[in-house]
Amino acid sequence: MILAFETSCDETAVAVVDDTGIRSNEWLSQIRHHRKYGGVVPELASRLHAEYIDDVLGRALVSAGVSLNDITHVAVTVGPGLEGALLVGIVAAKTLSQQLQCPLIGVNHLHGHIFAALDAHQLHFPLIACIASGGHTMVVHMTDPLTVHMVANTMDDACGEAFDKVARMLGLSYPGGPAIEVLAQSGTVCVPLPHPVQNDPQRFSFSGLKTAVLHSIHKETYAKPDIAASFQHQVATILAHKLRETVNRYQPNQVVLCGGVFANRVIRSHIVETIDAPICIPAIPLCTDNAGMIGLAARVYRDAGVQSTPVTVLPGLGLAVPCCER
Ligand code: KG4
Ligand code: ZN
Repeated sequence: MILAFETSCDETAVAVVDDTGIRSNEWLSQIRHHRKYGGVVPELASRLHAEYIDDVLGRALVSAGVSLNDITHVAVTVGPGLEGALLVGIVAAKTLSQQLQCPLIGVNHLHGHIFAALDAHQLHFPLIACIASGGHTMVVHMTDPLTVHMVANTMDDACGEAFDKVARMLGLSYPGGPAIEVLAQSGTVCVPLPHPVQNDPQRFSFSGLKTAVLHSIHKETYAKPDIAASFQHQVATILAHKLRETVNRYQPNQVVLCGGVFANRVIRSHIVETIDAPICIPAIPLCTDNAGMIGLAARVYRDAGVQSTPVTVLPGLGLAVPCCER
């Protein structure tokens, strides 16, 4: 019975996960507090996590129908993320693991996004995973759960970050992804937009795309819903193109799509329709940050014998996190 914490950004999240799956997955979104600033304010995020975490913990235990005494492992996101925000979850998890005398498992947030797929699917390695979130856009090749090789990464903005910035240009509120998805429903794909670094298999770039959107807004030739629909379509095209190349090169058994951007229904279906490989995508609520995915990743680490290690080093994801020793 794993108690998992996720506080890397603006969701204060706690979950209970056991060998049958996610028993509870609770979160309190801070979005309304950050919205007036147009994005996440790190210091505010840390303070709100500290304020909310007890309440969310209580809710996670109640909805799982367990008490603290039933917990056998405590898991927590140790990075990447906002340092002060991460620290709130880490301190809570570390305190509980000491109090309950159970092992602490530090989880890489990106692994969390990937293993969210375990909620509804079995994973078949070697696989390709595409993580597209507010902080990352990468394609990785995984030969087993803990062996991750970077295939492609963004050289500037993350995909979700581009959604958030384009939304702001269109006068939409934070977070931009869901707002663009809604606006795009009443638009048509008609604005010509670039496909940056199309021929570079190792790179994504969203900065030029964002600037092209800005120019199309300034020209006032196109209606905002059309710009939203065209931008969303172009992101789907860019992700699908890179994935198609990667699938051709690696011939994986499976392709996992994960991270907040894959909460977008248009992008999900575009990729499913255009990629010739078995695809698994977590359910929409499990694409954005949540603690259930951290519990599922912790279960993978536990099964692989990675627990209570002083350093969680994950090859390929570029992260060595010193902490989380019991
Ligand atoms: O994975 P996530 O919750 O947090 C990070 O790890 O960053 O991703 C958040 C990002 C935000 O940039 C948000 O605008 C984007 O995911 N996002 C979406 C949608 N829902 C969230 N982007 C496009 N369409 C959506 N429906
Ligand atoms: Zn995330």
